[in-house]
Amino acid sequence: MTAEVSDALLNALKSAQSAAALTGAGISAESGIETFRGENGLWNRFKPEELANVDAFLRNPDLVWAWYAYRKRVIHQSGPNAAHRALVELEALIPDWTTITQNVDDLHRRAGSRNVAELHGNITRNYCYECGARCDDDTLPEENNAPHCSKCGGLVRPDVVWFGELLPADAWEKAEDAARRADVFFSIGTSAVVYPAASLPLIAKRHGAYVVEVNMDATPLTGLADETIIGAAGEILPVIVDKFREMKAGRG
Ligand code: OAD
Ligand code: ZN
Repeated sequence: MTAEVSDALLNALKSAQSAAALTGAGISAESGIETFRGENGLWNRFKPEELANVDAFLRNPDLVWAWYAYRKRVIHQSGPNAAHRALVELEALIPDWTTITQNVDDLHRRAGSRNVAELHGNITRNYCYECGARCDDDTLPEENNAPHCSKCGGLVRPDVVWFGELLPADAWEKAEDAARRADVFFSIGTSAVVYPAASLPLIAKRHGAYVVEVNMDATPLTGLADETIIGAAGEILPVIVDKFREMKAGRG
């Protein structure tokens, strides 16, 4: 583990045709959005089984919507941080780049990332549980009542993946392909315990990628990655981008 940018990482980036990053809640922590696990994590205060699954939603849609309305408000009021912006820069510097995220906060797109695979959906979108129609809210829900579909009257749900649900197939396929192709693969701000997302760095490694983890703490990936950089993503990633740029300029 190191706080510096290693020569091994810089050399891997220098020759990379293809690279990708898997991000988790930790990349948005510096934007003021709470993570799920850890001391102050959301799942310490809220029970996933009462909020983030279909049964809970059908049993108590207003409660589930109160929670999502709260999170939508927090996310709406926040914005991308230096870590999200660093990934936008990497996308410009590396010929084939994919940002793979477990986050539903839309901050990668708001930062300007283009090639994004959203594995767990996007909280800014909703759809009808009955007829499947998109029911996106430009205006944030002000009351904590579950909204109903304007087409069929059915319950509207946020377009996020709940416990027990499958990942969107197209996003997963894009992510898995990117992991297979990657010469360098970053795992950033994720506790690396939720599957199948957590398998992506391992798939990348098996296919020859140099795997770099950026996290505040060690995770189950730490022993398997080529390198773990302990620290805040918003501090580490801009340094990696700067060094990479310097090296490219020096070469040119
Ligand atoms: P977690 O909350 O499990 O993990 C966040 C990770 O980010 C932890 O390992 C922290 O150490 C690290 N971290 C915190 N602040 C950081 C910072 N400033 N810089 C770098 N790292 C930092 O979040 P995820 O791994 O994203 O799924 O959780 C995965 C999934 O579990 C979520 O997508 C969600 C949840 O249940 C669904 O809702 C389907
Ligand atoms: Zn409907």
